[in-house]
Amino acid sequence: MGVALLAARGLVGGYGAAEEILKGCELAVAPGELVAIIGPNGAGKSTLLKAIAGLLRLNAGTILLDGTEITALPARARARAGIAFVPQEANVFPTMNVRENLEMGGFLEPRAARGRIEALYARFPVLAEKRRAAARTLSGGQRQVLAMGMALMVKPRLLLLDEPSAGLSPKAAEGLFDAIAAIHAEGTAIAMVEQNASEALAIADRGVVLVNGASVHSGPARALAADPEMRRLFLGG
Ligand SMILES: Nc1ncnc2c1ncn2[C@@H]1O[C@H](COP(=O)(O)OP(=O)(O)O)[C@@H](O)[C@H]1O
Ligand SMILES: [Mg+2]
Repeated sequence: MGVALLAARGLVGGYGAAEEILKGCELAVAPGELVAIIGPNGAGKSTLLKAIAGLLRLNAGTILLDGTEITALPARARARAGIAFVPQEANVFPTMNVRENLEMGGFLEPRAARGRIEALYARFPVLAEKRRAAARTLSGGQRQVLAMGMALMVKPRLLLLDEPSAGLSPKAAEGLFDAIAAIHAEGTAIAMVEQNASEALAIADRGVVLVNGASVHSGPARALAADPEMRRLFLGG
């Protein structure tokens, strides 16, 4: 195996003087790989994504992107280096229309924006149909597609998704997982936190289980989905 696209090791950090939330957490993502991060509520999954995006001060640990250390880089520099983060909430500008949201997503490279928006319209026709609609009028599933579209405006090498299917109907979630699978198929590496563990593992290459701020297990997604212990703990039997 070559150099990992992302290699985060020994991450320790939290939100202040209180206890650490990440307690030696690690995450590796190979180029083009789709990794599903699962685990109980409060395990630190969102915190791990924030740490990788540069939104959390770490007390220990290293993060390498393509073999280059980025641990000390601020969030904006990490975005420029190719890491795009889609948070779980407040991930679109509600009063702006779809096209304006996509333009905001592409602010780092305004000259490429027009062509990339056209490519996104072709890839996700719902964005083209709704281009003049304010983001707040979109359905939950449409909003998540828009949030991912904004992230894709910078052609990221690594896309971080925090619970993209949260709050969606089963049908909308299915559509969203199809969209994520399509982004993966085009070669973008993705680290995705999900409560819908079975659905996430079904499209992932690998699964990582996070418990109490530490990565306790990592393996091929298919093996994880079939593991009786995993099924009992995270997959509803
Ligand atoms: N902004 C914050 N300030 C203080 N504590 C937080 C903050 N965000 C999350 N936490 C705490 O960190 C722990 C892990 O949270 P989180 O990473 O959101 O877990 P998960 O995404 O796995 O459900 C929880 O105990 C949560 O209460
Ligand atoms: Mg979370």
